[in-house]
Order: sequence, then structure tokens, then C-alpha cells
Amino acid sequence: MSRAKTPRGQKKTGAAKTGPAKRYKAAKAPSRATPRANGTPLLKVDGLSTYFDITGGFLSRPLARVHAVEDVSFDLARGETLALVGESGCGKSTTGRTLIGLETPVAGSITYENEELIGLKNDRRKAMCRTMQMIFQDPYSSLNPRMTAGSSIGEPMRVHGIVPKVEVRDRVVDLLRKVGLGAEHYDRFPHEFSGGQRQRLCIARALGVQPRMIVADEAVSALDVTIQAQVINLMMDLQSELGLSYLFISHDMAVVERISHRVAVMYLGRIVEIGPRRAVFEDPQHSYTRKLLAAVPVADPTVKRKKRELMADEIPSAARPLGYVPEKLEFREVSKDHLVALEH
Ligand SMILES: Nc1ncnc2c1ncn2[C@@H]1O[C@H](COP(=O)(O)OP(=O)(O)O)[C@@H](O)[C@H]1O
Ligand SMILES: [Mg+2]
Repeated sequence: MSRAKTPRGQKKTGAAKTGPAKRYKAAKAPSRATPRANGTPLLKVDGLSTYFDITGGFLSRPLARVHAVEDVSFDLARGETLALVGESGCGKSTTGRTLIGLETPVAGSITYENEELIGLKNDRRKAMCRTMQMIFQDPYSSLNPRMTAGSSIGEPMRVHGIVPKVEVRDRVVDLLRKVGLGAEHYDRFPHEFSGGQRQRLCIARALGVQPRMIVADEAVSALDVTIQAQVINLMMDLQSELGLSYLFISHDMAVVERISHRVAVMYLGRIVEIGPRRAVFEDPQHSYTRKLLAAVPVADPTVKRKKRELMADEIPSAARPLGYVPEKLEFREVSKDHLVALEH
């Protein structure tokens, strides 16, 4: 990501007093101090691109290429939550999957704990990735239906040899307690839990391998609002206790406002705006960020709901012809750490 910085003192073109940000203030979450100041970031992503070929015809030849992630750069501090937001199909999951090694990027670098992950040999990459865990939207499909909760949580610990075998059970019970469940849940099967409890099991399972970073991909999107709030509170508590960093992928701006320290807005595979949560919510600069905020349902019944401005079909496809060379985005620094892509 190239950063074209604005000279200090340049007049801002703010939308702070009007539009979506103002309507949205009613639901403002308490301020969360950002832990960004201290030391080198845990994760630094630079110019990351991940493409998928679209094949067709008798010989399955590539016909076009989906630029799912295009020249994405950001960093993540220890103990920080960066939300990655944007409509379905904009490349959020592919970004998360590329970070933890489930997709192979075509360009860019991923520095994690001061080590470059791209190009690492398999074993070393696996060892590095142990401390990066991913939790998904559908906890049911992440848990083996034939394994008890206790075995599911203990399995990655056993595989990675985190604790001696005889201690796994005690450690699993500790983890169950940490996520608000108890020893009585150890021998139950996934179908005996509610959706919220199952997501707690997935969190416990991820915590078992002592992660430093969790990629949460729409992790609370399928839950009812009250359960969603409980799981978010749990994640925030675990963050302060364990110093975890979260890449929190979501299309739900209300949830994002509650949990994040910083927000990155993705559109067609690129980050078009990134900054501290308050700056992005109260002073959104990119036209797409404004649309995204305008599409948030309004809780106050006295405020007439505006027609939803963002339609799924407005979003063009990220499919490009073979050989397409993407244009490099330029960024302007609106305020400290708040960057927005220039629109032409
Ligand atoms: N394995 C894949 N093969 C081909 N295209 C893919 C694959 N995974 C994702 N895509 C495409 O990449 C784009 C980004 O997808 P995704 O990262 O899942 O978006 P999001 O998580 O923001 O909804 C979409 O156009 C999607 O269709
Ligand atoms: Mg997704």
C-alpha cells in the first residue's frame, strides 16, 4: 500500500457532522484504549495479493482471475483488535485464510513475530502458525459431531504437545471454565450445546494451543443478539487477560463498533480506508465506508430508516481478465493513523 501523506494542517473533508456517522452515534460503544503504541507489531502485512483462477472449457483452462485480495497492507499490534469489514465477497475471508496459510498469495509479505512467513518451509510455517488460530461463523461444522467437547478441545493440545498427556484433561476443564462452561460439559457432544455454547467450545479449542492471534471470521454473525454480546464480552475479557490480538472479520458494523480498536474497510479485494475505530465511524472518508455505515439499521425508532443504500448488486465483481495489471491505490492520511484511498 503506498501512502501519500497529507501535509499537516490540510483542511479535512469531513462527514462528521452529517450523514451516517451522526445517525450512528446513538449506539456508540465506550471508548477502548488502543494498545498500538507499544513496540513492533505482532503482524505486519505488506502488499498481499491472493488470486483465484476461473477455469472453463473442456481442458479447464484459466479464463479469468478473481483478484480476491489485492495489494493489502496493515499491521496488528499485540492485544489489539483490527476489524476487517466489507460486503460479502470483498475478500475478507481470503485475507484471513492467506494469513494462516490456507491460501497461497501471489505477492506480498506477512511478517509475524518478526519472521517472514511467505516462503517458509512447511514445518517451520506450521510451527509459526500454531499461535495463529482461526474461528469461523459456523461452530457446528468446526467441531467433530462424534467427538465429545472435551476431546475436541484437547485434540490440538495433544497434536502440538502443549502439555503432557496426563495433564490434558485438567487443562481442558480449565479452558471450559475460562469460556464460561464447566467440567460437566466435558463429555457432552456438540449437538447437546446451543449455538453460543458451541462457539465458546471453538474459542476454548483455539485457546488450548496458546495462540497470540485469532482470526475470527464472522465468528458471532450467526448468533442471536444477546448471545452475540456475551461471546463478544468473552472475547474482550480473554483479550485483556491473555493479550490476544484479533483480526475480527465481520460485515456487521454494530458488532465491529463494540469490539474493535481499529477498522479496515475492504472493497473489491482492497483496503480503501483504515484507521482508529472512532475516526472511521465518526469521520468516514471513503464513499464506500459511508455507504457501509448508512446501511446499518438504526436502533432509535424516532429516526426514520433511510432506504438501504448499499445493494449487493452494486458491487462489481473482482474477476479480471488474465494479464490484468491492477492500478496502485494512493492513500491520504486524514488524521493520525487514519488513511483513505484516493478516489478518482
Ligand atoms: N476457492 C476459491 N476459488 C475461487 N474463487 C474464490 C475462492 N474463494 C473465494 N473466492 C472468490 O474471492 C472473492 C472473495 O471471497 P471471500 O474472501 O470469501 O469474501 P468475503 O469473506 O469478504 O465474503 C469472491 O469473489 C469469491 O467468490
Ligand atoms: Mg467470508
